Amino acid sequence: MIESIQGLDLVQEINKLRVQKNAVILAHNYQIPEVQDIADFVADSLGLAYAAEESTAETIVLCGVEFMAETASLLCPDRTVLLPDTQAGCSLAQSITGEQLADWKHQYPEAVVVCYVNTSAEVKSLSDYCCTSTNAVQVVESIPKNQEILFVPDMFLGAYVKKKTGRKNIRVWMGECHVHAGISEESISTARKEHPKAEFLVHPECGCISSTMYLTAENGKGTHDARILSTGGMIKHAKTSSNKEFVIATETGILHRLEKDNPEKSFFPVSRANVCHFMKMITLEKVYRSLKEGVHRVTVDESIASKARIPINRMLDLQRTSPASAK
Ligand code: 13P
Ligand code: SF4
Repeated sequence: MIESIQGLDLVQEINKLRVQKNAVILAHNYQIPEVQDIADFVADSLGLAYAAEESTAETIVLCGVEFMAETASLLCPDRTVLLPDTQAGCSLAQSITGEQLADWKHQYPEAVVVCYVNTSAEVKSLSDYCCTSTNAVQVVESIPKNQEILFVPDMFLGAYVKKKTGRKNIRVWMGECHVHAGISEESISTARKEHPKAEFLVHPECGCISSTMYLTAENGKGTHDARILSTGGMIKHAKTSSNKEFVIATETGILHRLEKDNPEKSFFPVSRANVCHFMKMITLEKVYRSLKEGVHRVTVDESIASKARIPINRMLDLQRTSPASAK
């Protein structure tokens, strides 16, 4: 056990350990700036899954939340996957258990299950397809039109997918992320009034998603120029857009990368209070301890893992064969 790390240059120590342990550090776009800055890759959920799969490192330190580390472990069962803090959970993933999904499936035995990647390995093991915010529409469109679908667990992403695909045969679980659910129509309109020239980028988990879709040119009145994007989609779009100002509706950790990549542009969060405390649990000190002590190893029991890999691999295969691959 490390007694004290006072006086250590954590960045230097992490860099030494990363080489010694043949480790790769993967960080989600919501991580604190210091953690993003020492990571080998910073990405959204889909990007992290790819980075884990493609890396040849013996150890993967996943700076994100538990379901992300579980996904990396499912894709890389022969590697050591470490989550620097075991308390880094996800309120959305917690909104459905394996038992609840099994009961729901029992009510609709003909339906297939599409699970958002923000779910436990157990829920994935009971699902047919997995998706992320990047490819949810694409995954649902790959399923025959007359096939009934149970979509878990995010109600706002589910509403978005229903609207975009025009399918009536999707039943959506009423789960939500406590951070994104609070991003309401009212908070959006206040932020947009303060920054009238800004382009509006919104994550599909947000509570304002239905009203946003209604107000976009594509789907309704045409009074919004909103773009509904995954965190990785926001990073890409901000780089290529000719706009100089953006209102951002998602967790505020993404601002670091947006500002770093685009120093000449301005980014305004809908609210500074949109913070995921689970994501902020990972600190440089914990990354150091994780590498030094090999903690906390995330594994998935093979009886669950063998089934949970099926929906994840279906998604990755679909993504690989798609011309508009988000990679
Ligand atoms: P992304 O896949 O868009 O990064 O979303 C993950 C997440 O947890 C959003 O809250
Ligand atoms: Fe989960 Fe919400 Fe945090 Fe994303 S922001 S990890 S969905 S609790």
